[in-house]
Amino acid sequence: MTKVLFEHRGKKDIDTFDGWQAAGGFSALEKALKMTPEEVIEEVKSSGLRGRGGAGFPTGVKWGFVPKGIDKPVYLCINADESEPGTCKDRVLMEELPFMCLEGALIAAYAIQAKMAFWYIRGEFDLSERRMRAAVALLKEKGLIGKNVCGSGWDIDFAVHRGAGAYVCGEETGLISSVEGKQGQPKLKPPFPAVEGAFGCPTIVNNVESLAAVPWIVNNGGESYSALGTEKSKGTKLFSVSGAVNKPGVYEVEMGYPMADLINKECGGPLDDVKLKAIIPGGSSVPVLPAKDAMAMNLDYESVQEAGSLLGSGGVIAIDEHQSMPELLDILGRFYAHESCGQCTPCREGTGWGARILHRVYEGQGQDEDLETLSRIARFMSGTTICFLASSMSMPIQSFFKHFKHEFEALLPVSNTAAGD
Ligand SMILES: Cc1cc2nc3c(=O)[nH]c(=O)nc-3n(C[C@H](O)[C@H](O)[C@H](O)COP(=O)(O)O)c2cc1C
Repeated sequence: MTKVLFEHRGKKDIDTFDGWQAAGGFSALEKALKMTPEEVIEEVKSSGLRGRGGAGFPTGVKWGFVPKGIDKPVYLCINADESEPGTCKDRVLMEELPFMCLEGALIAAYAIQAKMAFWYIRGEFDLSERRMRAAVALLKEKGLIGKNVCGSGWDIDFAVHRGAGAYVCGEETGLISSVEGKQGQPKLKPPFPAVEGAFGCPTIVNNVESLAAVPWIVNNGGESYSALGTEKSKGTKLFSVSGAVNKPGVYEVEMGYPMADLINKECGGPLDDVKLKAIIPGGSSVPVLPAKDAMAMNLDYESVQEAGSLLGSGGVIAIDEHQSMPELLDILGRFYAHESCGQCTPCREGTGWGARILHRVYEGQGQDEDLETLSRIARFMSGTTICFLASSMSMPIQSFFKHFKHEFEALLPVSNTAAGD
């Protein structure tokens, strides 16, 4: 299977400048700098690469939204916030292949003619931050970041910005607010960041994995990338697999790879041969699926959607038959309630209220109408807020109830029979 991101993973010194250069690193940057920015954008458009941060928006198309010929600086924000529970792929990329990530970001910055890039790293990612800071400092010394990069006439500066551990700062407009030195609260769109983002200027926000694929695309051509994967989901994707498997970890597979092969071949099968009960395929915010449905589907945007969930960030969580689903949802509920930024009433009140009810149901202290109330809260939270954090809690509630409601009902006092939809 072709590896785009992990082609060089594990090679000696690949996390160093010399190691990356010896593996052919920086040849894509050199090539890109000889192309026009528009040509680079076209190459990435032709690859079919879609954003790997969760939303799956075509990367080259997004770059093309930056207005041309305006009298304002353009910014690039690299989204390394990676706070989605179950997801740890960007951390692996930054720790193990920092120069590949940086090369991809430099090419993106050139394509959109950014003058400044902000590498926004999750607060808890100590090693990632040290690696990226060191990589940026070294490229500044070597003249690959700075004035007139490689004689191209293009100037770029990079700043590494460490977040303070807030999940909502991974949302692109929340991230931008945080970069601006404000409280990390999302903003209404439109205007979209590509037109009016950081400091009121055009800003592209891209996930680390999206940008890390760019050197390969420039070196091998967009068409080679689009030849990988399925008709609509191109290229490869990283999946961080956690939970009840023998070999949890981050795996790169082509889009369309069967979930059953990911679990059984790459991850060595379910842990201790337990039966899997459920799988969350794309980070904790996406709908959970019964294991038999998830194991029968392929890993591409369309197939996962057809099966009733979303590919999201590729955080695959394998849940074994002994795991209590009410316990799991109780933990997730507390996470979302803690992480709500509090701006929108449906999210601020809904996540907190929902978490309190979920907790008492799990503790066996539920009331007759609790499951119906939770369903109602989940419905009203969804689509009524500035960002998707509220939906990130309502989708799990709705899907846990769709497939595993009997486990919640079993925890209600015996007299309870009025457990809604
Ligand atoms: C609550 C919330 C948290 C998010 N967290 C992340 C994150 O940690 N990393 C990320 O790349 N995208 C995250 N996103 C998605 C970003 O808003 C945005 O779509 C993404 O960074 C765009 O990059 P891409 O086009 O390369 O995927 C989050 C979205 C929401 C609603």
